[in-house]
Amino acid sequence: MKTFRLLVAALLGATLLAACERPPMQSTQQGYRGTGMQDVQNPRIVAAAKAAQPAVPELPPPGGNDGPKARDVYQNVKVLGDLSVGEFTRHMLAITAWVAPEQGCTYCHGANLADDGKYTKVVARRMIEMNRHLNVDWAKHVGTTGVTCYTCHRGQPVPANVTYAPLTPKNNRVGVGLGNDAGQNKAEPSIALASLPYDPFTPYLKGDEQIRVQGTQALPSDDHRVSIKQAEFTYSLMNHFSKSLGVNCTFCHNTQSFSTWNEKRVTAWHGIRMARDLNNAYLEPLTTTFPANRLGPTGDVAKVSCATCHQGINKPLGGLAMAKDWPGLLTTQVAAAAPAAVPVAAATPVVATMQAELKETIYFPVNSPQLRGDEPKKIEKLVAALNAQPGSTATLSGYHSASGKLAANQELAKQRAFKIRDALKNAGIADSRIKLDKPRQTEANVKGEDPFARRVEVTVK
Ligand code: HEC
Ligand code: HEC
Ligand code: HEC
Ligand code: HEC
Repeated sequence: MKTFRLLVAALLGATLLAACERPPMQSTQQGYRGTGMQDVQNPRIVAAAKAAQPAVPELPPPGGNDGPKARDVYQNVKVLGDLSVGEFTRHMLAITAWVAPEQGCTYCHGANLADDGKYTKVVARRMIEMNRHLNVDWAKHVGTTGVTCYTCHRGQPVPANVTYAPLTPKNNRVGVGLGNDAGQNKAEPSIALASLPYDPFTPYLKGDEQIRVQGTQALPSDDHRVSIKQAEFTYSLMNHFSKSLGVNCTFCHNTQSFSTWNEKRVTAWHGIRMARDLNNAYLEPLTTTFPANRLGPTGDVAKVSCATCHQGINKPLGGLAMAKDWPGLLTTQVAAAAPAAVPVAAATPVVATMQAELKETIYFPVNSPQLRGDEPKKIEKLVAALNAQPGSTATLSGYHSASGKLAANQELAKQRAFKIRDALKNAGIADSRIKLDKPRQTEANVKGEDPFARRVEVTVK
């Protein structure tokens, strides 16, 4: 009897453990020692995710932009007209390899290449504009890595991870009429199979509902009335983030204080606004262009989520610089000269001077000049750089939000810069090596929620 019990216990244990991941894990310290602030990753899963990134199709390198322009040679070129005929053709080849490699040119074109009869061509033209907008105006998220059609499409006309609004909760249960599932408990892969609301996309990546739910005071107040139900929607979206990027919550958060900011979370914040912009300004207006079989159960157009680009990894395609060889997707005004005039080429000198110059951006909480979370670590780095280069100086530029009263904002920006100056001085850096710039206002932050607005940039050179 006893051995039987032991056997059952062993079997039960083995079954339970089968769902666990095998050690060793890799943990990166994210905060103060002893506070358990660590980002834990399974190196085998991370390596597999990297290895699973598909190979980007091989395409000819840029050939320069000399010769007659596409707009002068062809009849109906509205977006890529500034490209030379050679570059234009190269872009058409690329688009085919990225979006419709099996179908070929005829996926978008009929016998007359200038004709706009196929909806796919009309959509593709708008997608080229969207792609440019991403690389030019959303550098705060996509950086100089940038995106091409392949980032989302991966050789498929319909990208793998798109979202549609679901049917209303009432119709959603198997066998209509069996009650209301309140938008929950459907084991959707997009939110990591959690028993949370399965559509965080409509409120947050199409609408601009408030994602933040945490109170700043101990007790409920008139300024803060957020229900558990709302928090469930936030957590559902957060599960989507983690799943889409293949990371833990600790990648973006100090889980002891979800509301503090780190660099990854700032990038994610811009990603949320970027996804909303793509869905509302580009995809939504295309609804009537698409045939009915491309629309969702409620007749809405397919929309972009974090997974559409990321596909399980923190930087899409392992951080491969996608856009740099594609002048047609990089700017709204393609320069007339050879590829040297393409904006990304201009970025090279920055990389070359990086050794000598250190730039750190230090973020602050709302209405506060206090250093929180990982920010003091950046000051340690600055001190190390200043000590390593005795002739160098640190220039501090404080930025403040465009919302609220100007005088108060300027004062706060000044206090934040002073805070950093004092920290540098306490670490033994001479006053004469620290320069303070005038506080500057960040552009376009009228709602006052952009964490990027509350920063001090420090350059050591
Ligand atoms: C995914 C859709 C798509 C695919 C596939 C595609 N094209 Fe295009 N093509 C377009 C769009 C969009 C335009 C218009 C571009 C603009 O307005 O700037 C265009 C325009 C053209 C034009 C200019 C026609 C004119 O007189 O206005 C030519 C030539 C052309 N494509 C050739 C090709 C060739 C060759 C292939 C296959 C290698 C190809 N395209 C594959 C979308 C596509
Ligand atoms: C940010 C992600 C993203 C990028 C980048 C992107 N697309 Fe798309 N594309 C989508 C989504 C979402 C749809 C809608 C899916 C559908 O067709 O229902 C779509 C649809 C299309 C379609 C219609 C396909 C069909 O069969 O219905 C074409 C054609 C297309 N894209 C071409 C392009 C081209 C060309 C580029 C690059 C210039 C590009 N896309 C870049 C997300 C993207
Ligand atoms: C890719 C980065 C990223 C990941 C991963 C992530 N979050 Fe978030 N989280 C954010 C951003 C950005 C916001 C703020 C959104 C906004 O204000 O628009 C946020 C907000 C929150 C909030 C609200 C904080 C407040 O001030 O009210 C909570 C709670 C939260 N996340 C929990 C989680 C949990 C739990 C996980 C893991 C399942 C997670 N997050 C994973 C980026 C992330
Ligand atoms: C249009 C494609 C696209 C979409 C949609 C997108 N991202 Fe990204 N994201 C990128 C690219 C490209 C990078 C790499 C940028 C770089 O190399 O600097 C990136 C980087 C990031 C990073 C920084 C990763 C790191 O290791 O530094 C975070 C965090 C992130 N994205 C979160 C999100 C979240 C959250 C969403 C959804 C709200 C989202 N992204 C949607 C393209 C996208």
